[in-house]
Amino acid sequence: MALQRTLSIIKPDATRRNITGAINALIEREGLRIIAQKRLLLTQKHAEKFYAVHAERSFFNDLCSFMCSGPVVVQVLEGVNAVEQYRKVMGATNPANADEGTIRKEFAESIEANSVHGSDSKENAAIEIAFFFSDMEIVG
Ligand code: CMP
Repeated sequence: MALQRTLSIIKPDATRRNITGAINALIEREGLRIIAQKRLLLTQKHAEKFYAVHAERSFFNDLCSFMCSGPVVVQVLEGVNAVEQYRKVMGATNPANADEGTIRKEFAESIEANSVHGSDSKENAAIEIAFFFSDMEIVG
């Protein structure tokens, strides 16, 4: 299967606890390569635009405030079947339902403070990668 790319965000609960390296160790152990990376403090505007698809959800405002509450690390991951592979490595959105050995089982604090985000489809991965990175910043 051809190489694919996906967007990863290490969320404020994880940067606050200084576990970005531990999370990336799991990502790399599972065969994904980090081919772009930057640490950012999102503005409310950025967060609302990035999560616009959830604008009607009851948790939207809390989600956007949380994503601006501290630094995030945004990354492009590359690998075989990367979108699905990274979703497996992350585990279920709610850590209470996440399988053993996944990032969220090991590190997430709650459904909101769930340590990582990953694109949910190949199409959204392309949109989300372009939201944060120019072609020049991605070095595969
Ligand atoms: P993420 O993969 O970043 O995509 C949307 C986020 O909304 C999700 O992870 C969760 O962290 C967050 N969220 C907060 N509350 C809920 C909820 N009740 N149901 C689903 N997602 C939620």
